[in-house]
Amino acid sequence: MSEIPGPRSQALMQPLRAHESRNVTFISPEFPIAWDHASGARVVDADGNSYIDLTAAFGVAAVGHANPRVAAAIAAQAAALPHAMGDVHPASIKATLLERLAAFSGIPDAKIFLSSTGAEAVEAAMKTAMMATGRSRFASCIGGYHGLSFGTLGISGIEKFRQPFQHHIASDTIRFAFGDLAAAQQALRGTHDIAAIIVEPIQARGGCIVPDDGYLQGLRSLCDEIGAMLILDEIYTGFGRTGTRFAYSHEAIIPDVLCVGKAMGGGFPIAATIARKEIMDAWPRSDGEALHTSTYLGNPMGCAAALAVMDELDAGLMQRGNAIAKIISHAGVRIASRRAVRAVRGRGAMWGIQLESAAQVQAAMLAAMQRGVLLLPCGPQGDVISLTPPLVISDDDLHTALMIIDDHLQA
Ligand SMILES: Cc1ncc(COP(=O)(O)O)c(C=O)c1O
Repeated sequence: MSEIPGPRSQALMQPLRAHESRNVTFISPEFPIAWDHASGARVVDADGNSYIDLTAAFGVAAVGHANPRVAAAIAAQAAALPHAMGDVHPASIKATLLERLAAFSGIPDAKIFLSSTGAEAVEAAMKTAMMATGRSRFASCIGGYHGLSFGTLGISGIEKFRQPFQHHIASDTIRFAFGDLAAAQQALRGTHDIAAIIVEPIQARGGCIVPDDGYLQGLRSLCDEIGAMLILDEIYTGFGRTGTRFAYSHEAIIPDVLCVGKAMGGGFPIAATIARKEIMDAWPRSDGEALHTSTYLGNPMGCAAALAVMDELDAGLMQRGNAIAKIISHAGVRIASRRAVRAVRGRGAMWGIQLESAAQVQAAMLAAMQRGVLLLPCGPQGDVISLTPPLVISDDDLHTALMIIDDHLQA
């Protein structure tokens, strides 16, 4: 155990300072720590300090850091066949994954594009909507985050990410306030050129904003009315994060296209774009030259990881989202009474504590880290503490972490 960040963590920042783009890692005397290893909901840094992780590393470690079944599946696949050919000779495990994921997704007659990152999954969804509608314009939400590639920047709802690159990204996107169905209807009714509305069921990076019941149903009807596809970006909310396999099932709607990633691979980079057959079949049949593919599409280790993640979720882990929600909402009543707290909101294992300012969130993050709890900020202003623990977190660890946050907020 050492001061935080300890000497090893601090020393490890030197190569980052010297050799990583300075845009990537924020480094100060108090931040960050270098992660060395992790298990379940616990992370250990390079100095041997142990932390309760309430980030799941951007929501990825839903089935737990270094989940032994996922690690074993990746290791076995790495020994047998770590890589095959995305759009030429497929790995046999890709066939297994496609069948399983199609059924797991709940999308009837699902057909799938596999990819490596969330942004790629969203871009494949955008291309699919263009193919299916013959249109090229998109509508998205203010505050929405869908990745940072050029295609996804065109639909991003966070201005600062677009601003430096605006001359190279789509400028005809229609944006409307998240959660406000009337605003969406006002912006889009009467249009005939929208390929898709793209939306997160719960705005994650935008501040953990949970829309009112009926919002997604309303967007579903609006899409039907204007002949647009409904693309649900469940890259954060999918794979058990909100207490069900996918957040869309809370509203009993079926999206036209579903984007998943993050938790899907349990730490291995794999993502997917899932659509009903009649939509995906708007793409031409491959004649030996795929119009959309990539080197690592359907990477066998990613397929093995995703199969193991679905096994873990189906073996009872999914219900943990609701148990976690009970604990956080119970503690949230006390936390919400603290002076700096504006709101506590969330669903399943995805919660936000909105404070008065980003500075307060930064202070809370640093204080929690000193006491062994890892947090992340979210919200366009950075004024929300995001809580997205691994689903495997123990009740004790969760209670301890929430008490540490509350201690800081009442101080
Ligand atoms: C809702 C949502 N969509 C897309 C992305 C982009 O995923 P990736 O960073 O894997 O490209 C993210 C990442 O945070 C996300 O939260």
